[in-house]
Amino acid sequence: MRMFAPNFELKMELVKTLAEFESVRKQLGDKTVGFVPTMGALHEGHASLIRRAVSECGAVVVSDFVNPTQFNNKNDFDTYPRKVEEDCAFVEPLGVSVVFAPSAAEMYPAGTDYNKKVFDLGGLDKYGEGPRRPGHFNGMAQVVTRLFDIVRPDRAYFGEKDFQQLAIVEYFVRALRYPVSIVRCPIARAADGLALSSRNSLLTPGQRAAAPGIYRSICRAVDMVGKMPVEDAVREVTAMIDGYAGLRTEYVEIINSLTLRPVTDWDEAEHLRLTCAVYAGQVRLIDNIALK
Ligand code: PAF
Repeated sequence: MRMFAPNFELKMELVKTLAEFESVRKQLGDKTVGFVPTMGALHEGHASLIRRAVSECGAVVVSDFVNPTQFNNKNDFDTYPRKVEEDCAFVEPLGVSVVFAPSAAEMYPAGTDYNKKVFDLGGLDKYGEGPRRPGHFNGMAQVVTRLFDIVRPDRAYFGEKDFQQLAIVEYFVRALRYPVSIVRCPIARAADGLALSSRNSLLTPGQRAAAPGIYRSICRAVDMVGKMPVEDAVREVTAMIDGYAGLRTEYVEIINSLTLRPVTDWDEAEHLRLTCAVYAGQVRLIDNIALK
């Protein structure tokens, strides 16, 4: 990997300013550009998105930016892991062309309104994470649209772990007519089932040992479909998760996969998903699973 230097050969670049990025972007010419937006602290989950992007595109850009406008909890923002140098070493062998790791001042320069824009999210932020993390999805839309404008990708890769985020991105890309294809990628899990997340690195060994209880519990919901009232299934899964020492559910919902609205009846929608947020100590983990 090299720090920015113009006229690069095919070596991964780490760029930190918009001006540097623009110069590198020009050199990608008419290649199909794949984009994997991240907040860094990269792990195998990101690697799976990157591998897919590399296999489908002529050049891949990874952004590494902990976006302040999508955190509704200051402690979560302050403690969010930041490891740009390690991230670069992690992605270089995967075939990434550019890591874009801007500062907040580059992304939201004083005197501009990028961090004040209010987005139409099609009401998809009314449920699930939306009311529990006020402002989160609008902040996410601020940074993703800003990054799309800078990176100008042909394809952008998002994981289904953040299922609501993915649905919202698809919505505003359609509404704002962004010329970018959003590629849905399945959740990457550890061998014990825990959904891979940058926040997993904040778990104590005890919390890490309990955390696979989330996936074990939500898998049980698949067999409950149609066999008991939705409300009872939600209650059973909640109790199962809470039964693991150190885990505490914030919510478990069974939702219509398209509108994201919680359902009360199994027949209410063709596609259903169970979504949940669970605390392991101070660390907030989310997960989800398709039920039908
Ligand atoms: O999913 C994430 O890591 C972030 O929400 C994203 C899409 C990189 C925007 O900051």
